[in-house]
Amino acid sequence: MIDSMKDAIRILLLGPPGSGKGTQAAMLSEKFGIPHISAGDLLREEVAKKSATGRNVEAMMNAGKLIPSEIVTEMVRQRLSKNDCSRGFILDGFPRNTEQREMLGVKFDVAVSLELEDTLAIARLSGRRQCLDCGKIYSGDAAECECGGKLYQRKDDKPAAMRERLKIFHRDTRPLIDFYRKEGTLKTVDASKGVDIVFAAICRSIQ
Ligand code: AP5
Repeated sequence: MIDSMKDAIRILLLGPPGSGKGTQAAMLSEKFGIPHISAGDLLREEVAKKSATGRNVEAMMNAGKLIPSEIVTEMVRQRLSKNDCSRGFILDGFPRNTEQREMLGVKFDVAVSLELEDTLAIARLSGRRQCLDCGKIYSGDAAECECGGKLYQRKDDKPAAMRERLKIFHRDTRPLIDFYRKEGTLKTVDASKGVDIVFAAICRSIQ
């Protein structure tokens, strides 16, 4: 599908919590030289800054609830208007439901659905750690980020919040996957394989 990076390419990554959207988006960003835009990261930045928006959304995020679409859509729209998106972008975690898809009104060149069973998603999320400074994602026993930053566990990676996030994914985001399938832009990838295998499969599906 993508013959060269001369043209702008708009990639959407879909998938349940823990399916590897953030991990793969960072790798795609490096390969294609286009920004990785994560709705969750934009929201977490507001929480870290303790802005009015951050204070407003923190409890909802910790409980695994969706943030009102008006707030998230405006944040994503502003981010997409920046110059570095002129050659395309990888959007991770937005849209998450039909309302957001309609509000954003962006046509993607390819929508990649990372397919993963809930039990594996929960196992991965339980072991996830993230760098406080650079945001790099880890799993397992790493104690410190390669940048020297401290690793922390997200508050929404606790059992009740994980269950809520998975419930919302199946109820609200699955219909979007059907939409992109019907539209002809959907590619599905088995996300249960190793990181490099999943990455190669995504690259094949979009090239
Ligand atoms: P967000 O941060 O987007 O969370 P999510 O969609 O639940 O996805 P995750 O970040 O948990 O998982 P991921 O798929 O990115 O997996 P990762 O690469 O980290 O959103 C958080 C919250 O923000 C939402 O709950 C909501 O409150 C709010 N929000 C966000 N967007 C919103 C929207 N549009 N509307 C309203 N509210 C919104 O990998 C997970 C772990 O697995 C890591 O440890 C990783 O190292 C490991 N791993 C990754 N790939 C593999 C592999 N292939 N093999 C083995 N391990 C792997």
